Amino acid sequence: AGLAAPAMAQGAFPNKPITMVIPFAAGGPTDTVGRLIAQAMSVDLGQPVVVENVGGAGGTLGAQRVANARPDGYTILLHHIGMATTPTLYRRLAYDPINGFETLGLVTEVPMTLVARRNIEANNLAELVALIRQKGEGLNYANAGIGAASHLCGLLFMQAVNTRMTTVPYRGTGPAMNDLVAGTVDLMCDQTTNTTEQIRAGTIRAFAVTTPERLSALPDLPTAAQGGLPGFEVSVWHGLYAPKGTPAPVAARLNQALLKALQDPTIERRFADLGTAPVPVARATPQAHREFWQADIAKWRPLIQAAGQFAD
Ligand code: MLT
Repeated sequence: AGLAAPAMAQGAFPNKPITMVIPFAAGGPTDTVGRLIAQAMSVDLGQPVVVENVGGAGGTLGAQRVANARPDGYTILLHHIGMATTPTLYRRLAYDPINGFETLGLVTEVPMTLVARRNIEANNLAELVALIRQKGEGLNYANAGIGAASHLCGLLFMQAVNTRMTTVPYRGTGPAMNDLVAGTVDLMCDQTTNTTEQIRAGTIRAFAVTTPERLSALPDLPTAAQGGLPGFEVSVWHGLYAPKGTPAPVAARLNQALLKALQDPTIERRFADLGTAPVPVARATPQAHREFWQADIAKWRPLIQAAGQFAD
């Protein structure tokens, strides 16, 4: 009903500011990546790319906002691995988590780190695992809701140590990090884009990185396998999306701006500081990202089903 577009789309795209929805709180890892990319894209597009944080429900509220937005390229979504886990984790969503989007491209892949409040009673991963097995639900594990990377990492970690902790959900790991630094929650598994600076400053303790290799940004931090948990591995990717039905030339223009941003030396440097890197251009095309995303949905589905924790 009433879908006739007003006769206003004069001139080349874009001719007004673009909103980039970040589906988590400001100050967290998605926000950090999104703001850097938005700034670089706005230079290429000649229009502001304005970040709007729409946090809550593990990233699904922000995704819903974009899936249901007008498909004109002026509302886009910077999301992450939650795009691959929510189709399995959520039984009911007010949007189509797979067919509601056009892919614009992959942005980055980010390692995760297992971190704790500074004064946790453990000196290495083996001691931390022993403490968790002893205290169980007496320990608080912070995450950013069902569908967050910190939720997925927590699922895998609790499976690896075969012990449950008490989960404390936030609208993003930015605010969760404040509580970890303050010592009011005990543990978190979060992206290096949010933890590297705190680890270096000594405001939190890090126990492991969740990648097969150590990171050059945090060379002293052992991998989970080196710390005694082989197979506990996960990394987070971020991608850029537009609502389904966004015209192809508009999507192509947005992808072009993204590719420019990914080759920006400032972004490369800033990402490297935070333990990550922009993906190579060949992986950042809309088609390559759609294939990668679909494969990741299939990869996580059985693992999530085995864990048996779903949201409504
Ligand atoms: C955030 O930006 O807050 C994170 O990406 C949350 C998460 O997924 O763990």
